[in-house]
Amino acid sequence: MKVSIIGGGLVGSMTAFALQTGGIASQICLIDANKDSALGQATDLLHGSCLTADQHISAGDIGEVATSDVVVITAGLRRKPEESRLDLINRNVDLFLGLLEQAKTAGFKEDSYLVVVSNPVDVLTYLAVHRAGLPWQRVLGLGTQLDTVRFRSYLARRLKVPPTQVQAMILGEHGDSMVPIWSSATVAGLPIEQFPGFSPTMQKEVFEETKTAGATVIKLKGGSGFAVGLSIAEVVHSLLLDSRKILPVSSLQNGLYDVRDVCLSVPTVVGNTGVRQQLELALTPKERLGITQSAKVLREIIDQVEKRVGQVRSQREMPGKTTVSRPGVAGARAIPRTAWQASRVG
Ligand SMILES: NC(=O)c1ccc[n+]([C@@H]2O[C@H](COP(=O)([O-])OP(=O)(O)OC[C@H]3O[C@@H](n4cnc5c(N)ncnc54)[C@H](O)[C@@H]3O)[C@@H](O)[C@H]2O)c1
Repeated sequence: MKVSIIGGGLVGSMTAFALQTGGIASQICLIDANKDSALGQATDLLHGSCLTADQHISAGDIGEVATSDVVVITAGLRRKPEESRLDLINRNVDLFLGLLEQAKTAGFKEDSYLVVVSNPVDVLTYLAVHRAGLPWQRVLGLGTQLDTVRFRSYLARRLKVPPTQVQAMILGEHGDSMVPIWSSATVAGLPIEQFPGFSPTMQKEVFEETKTAGATVIKLKGGSGFAVGLSIAEVVHSLLLDSRKILPVSSLQNGLYDVRDVCLSVPTVVGNTGVRQQLELALTPKERLGITQSAKVLREIIDQVEKRVGQVRSQREMPGKTTVSRPGVAGARAIPRTAWQASRVG
């Protein structure tokens, strides 16, 4: 399976490296406006190929889209230290729309997936859903996947537990209105709120650390690379292997959590066909309100974008909304209403 990465800068090259060490994709292709840089990254990766996996690693141009099973877009302009992700919008929307047009001209494979990483990721994912010409289920944004891995890692450090045993999610916007989901957070399956060392102060501090993590890394080293590369690889691997992992990726919403006509992160089953299911978990009222606030923030931004670039929304199939019951799922325990609702989409 071939994965092409448009944008071979820090995030793109780290994604390529994570995919290389993951050993799942059979072809990895880097595409960048700076052709020498893309070739340099591909050459460097190629040198390690005998120590990793039997993959074909190359640099190419946008025409590679036509033969790609997954296209990851990481081309973009970096956030400046004091700039919010959403402030980047005008600079990045035009770049992104131009790239989408070029990719469409090259021709997406009918059964390919588009993974949007460039910021502001939820807004660009919405543009891609409506402009890429792929079914909406095949267009995923990285959403709060990186915020979630940061959150889990910071929690583990504070609680002095193995990071892989911490399960917790950030949902909503990949941005200032992101929502920590404490009601279903666990350590080794045990409720995190009952865990030794957990306190309201620690809770507040860890979320603050998570929310400012991107800005912290930008200040210290210029931009995120390792963790975002691994986060993208987790999404790509779940698509390629049909793992059906439940990940907080961004996708088009149509009613779950009372959110419509924006892309944001909800727990999502990621497998072949892309977004297989969007899950509505019974949350606390505060968490639920947080998600609707994220949607409001994003809708306002999309409205601003539409004023500049014209209406983005296209007439297309929308996510359905059905309810499923999943008794015994951690996190649904304290909430006396339907445990899980889900939008089943394939
Ligand atoms: N969603 C997330 O969680 C997340 C996390 C980190 C970074 N990001 C975003 O990812 C994007 C890239 O970040 P970075 O640190 O890799 O930046 P970077 O500056 O290192 O790399 C961006 C690359 O895009 C390339 N590029 C620019 N225009 C192009 C075009 N038209 N065609 C092909 N390539 C083009 C540049 O040459 C550069 O190599 C930014 O928008 C950043 O905000 C998102």
